[in-house]
This record gives sequence, C-alpha cells and structure tokens, in this order.
Amino acid sequence: MGRGGKTTTAGRRSRKPQSEPRAGRFLIYGANGFLGEAIARLAVADGMNPVIAGRRADRIAALADELGLEGVSFALDDPDAMDDALRRVAVVLHCAGPYVHTWRTMAEACLRTGTHYLDLTGELPVFQAVAALDGPAREAGVMLLPGVGFDVVPTDCLAVHLRRRLPSANRLILAFESRGPAGLPPGTQRTLIELLPQGTRIRRNGELAPPGRGDGERRVDFGRGPVPVTLVPWGDVFTAWHSTGIPNIADYMALPRYLRLPLAGAALFSPLLRLDPVRDLLKKAVLPGPSAWARARTRTHVYGEAEDARGRRVAARLHGPEAGVDWTAATALGAVRQVLDGIAPAGYQTPALAFGADFVLECGGAEREDLPAED
Ligand SMILES: NC(=O)c1ccc[n+]([C@@H]2O[C@H](COP(=O)([O-])OP(=O)(O)OC[C@H]3O[C@@H](n4cnc5c(N)ncnc54)[C@H](OP(=O)(O)O)[C@@H]3O)[C@@H](O)[C@H]2O)c1
Repeated sequence: MGRGGKTTTAGRRSRKPQSEPRAGRFLIYGANGFLGEAIARLAVADGMNPVIAGRRADRIAALADELGLEGVSFALDDPDAMDDALRRVAVVLHCAGPYVHTWRTMAEACLRTGTHYLDLTGELPVFQAVAALDGPAREAGVMLLPGVGFDVVPTDCLAVHLRRRLPSANRLILAFESRGPAGLPPGTQRTLIELLPQGTRIRRNGELAPPGRGDGERRVDFGRGPVPVTLVPWGDVFTAWHSTGIPNIADYMALPRYLRLPLAGAALFSPLLRLDPVRDLLKKAVLPGPSAWARARTRTHVYGEAEDARGRRVAARLHGPEAGVDWTAATALGAVRQVLDGIAPAGYQTPALAFGADFVLECGGAEREDLPAED
C-alpha cells in the first residue's frame, strides 16, 4: 500500500473503532464516484486527510493506495460496518446518490454514532425528509446539513444576503447560468432523470405548489444583458424558505442547448417517465462527467432578486467556477472545514444558517456583486 494508505473492509476490520480519535477526521462516502473522487483529490491537494469509503472494495483500495489515504469499504445496508466507520470520524461527506435512495441509512447511522452529516443533494424530497429528523438530530447533538454543493450553497447564501438587505422581502427569484463547455456530472444526470416525473415546484404563500401561468419563463441579466430562463426543480424552494422565511420563491436556469430538447421531451412524455424501466433505460445514456479542460473554461453566474409588498427591490449576483464539480467540491470541503473547526449547530441546517451568508465567498474564489436597490 503506497504512502501509508490502509484499506479495511467490513469483513476484515483491523482496528478497534472506538479507540480512534474523531476530532479532525472526516469520511467521504462514495469516493469512487465522479464527485467523491474529485473531492478526495482536491482534499489531498489542499493538505486534508480524509478517510475514503464506498461499497466497492477494489475501487476504494486502488484510490486509497494512489492518494495515500485510509480506505474502508462498507455497504449502506450494513449498519454495524457503518457504525464502526463513522465512530472514528467527526463528520461524513456523503457523495453517493441519487440521495432519494441513499440518504436515510447514512443519516440514521450519523444519529446513532454522533457524527455530523453533510451531503450533495439537490432533491426536494430529500431536503424535506432530512428536515423531519431535526428533533432527533438536536437530541443527538448532530448537525444534518444536506446540500453543501452548488445546489444549494450559492443560492442559499445569496437568499440570506438579499434578506439581510431587504428584511421585509416577501418574494424571491433565484437563477443561474453556466457559460462554457462543461456538461453535468453523471450523478447529476441520473438524479435529474430520477426527478423528471415529479415536475417543478415553486413556493407560493409559504406552501409548495405547482407553477402557475406566467411563472414558467422570464428574462434574467447575469451581467451581459437579459437572457431567457426556465423554471427548474431546485432545492431552494425548501432551503431558502427555511433560511429566510420568504413565502414566495422560484428557481430558474438559463438552459444550455443540450438540455432543452430532453426537458421539452420530458414534459411530453411525463406519464412514461413514471415507469422505472423507462428511467433505467435513460440512465444507460448518461454521458461521462466534464473534463478538467472543459471545467477550466466554464464559469457559473447566479442571480437573486428579492422584493417586498411595497415594490422595493434588491438584487445581487454571484460569479464562480464551473458548478457541478469545481464549485461543488470547493463548497463541500469548505463545509467540512467549518465542521472540523467546531461550527456544527445541532439539528437540520441549511448552509447559510449554519455558516452565514458570506460562507460562499470563502469557497472556490466566488465573488458577489450587489446591484443598486430599486424603490
Ligand atoms: N449539489 C450539487 O450541486 C451536486 C453536484 C454534483 C453532483 N451532485 C450529486 O452528487 C451525487 C454523486 O454524483 P456523481 O456524479 O459522483 O455520481 P456517480 O459518478 O454516479 O457516483 C455515485 C457514487 O454513489 C455510489 N452509490 C450509488 N448508489 C449507492 C448505494 N445504494 N450504496 C452505496 N453507494 C452508492 C456509487 O457507487 P458504485 O460505484 O458502487 O455504484 C458511486 O460511488 C449525485 O447524487 C449527484 O446528483 C450534486
């Protein structure tokens, strides 16, 4: 094993877990996935020392060996092995999705073992379900913080920043645009396919609701003049509401050309997309994740606008790196650092509630631009 890397499996654990120190240690689960591996590599480049984990012993061992990290393999249906691994770390960064299938066993293991929980979900049902564990998490002294990737750190922090500027806000628009050749990571493509039949939700008068006429399309200026944007299912309709209390929220995206056709098709064929075999077939067509070359040539722009009942309006933009891998890896590791520094309020949290609205500015070189307020 190279550079001190050490791999254990559930079947041959070689250490007494409880005797290991927890402080300063974190575990990346799903480390052989596209994002998990990218985050593990960035962590090592940044001088961090994660334990890497996943259900495939051979892949975890190879990566642990290459990066000189400790590796451990366990499946999400093996609670004893999960507990052994989690007891030895202060926080887990769960990178194995779609989360609708994977979050619960990991979050429950975190509650059993007193381990803080972070994940990269953007799935509305997952945010709702994790938030429902707020009480048990408070009792266990555990932080449950889903959504520490691009979905939802930048938009959540922007929402709280706008609320700070206009405390009377009762309407919030959030939108983002990717400029450059990078496509979506494979897990994000799979998650989108999984979510297609559910359609989009907005928050209206404090309740989640299907979009009405006129909600679907608008134009947003990300800095180069207004462009058309389309309503998308994004976690903010839950998380930004939780963070700000603003009762009307909608999320938009400037759709890249390669997504316009599939999404238009999804609307036409939505009854078909409810069938598991149809979605399984679509998942076979998932494209490889974006290369480092494409990511380096891609920038992401986020726009937020809050308005109150008297028509006062504030707006701001964030500008950051490629969203799906680079910005996500930066915010995820930023969240890990906060927790290892002792910032981990117990219970269900959003990124901005846990770490503040300026947290996004500490990750991946993101910049914020305040636009003049309108009365
Ligand atoms: N928040 C954001 O902005 C953001 C950005 C990017 C990605 N994501 C999310 O992050 C997740 C990972 O994306 P990715 O591109 O890395 O996906 P990926 O390449 O498909 O990797 C998924 C990883 O999850 C593991 N996994 C899946 N189901 C599992 C299960 N039931 N038990 C144990 N392990 C399981 C896979 O293990 P095997 O190899 O053994 O199958 C693999 O290691 C996705 O859910 C994606 O939506 C979020």
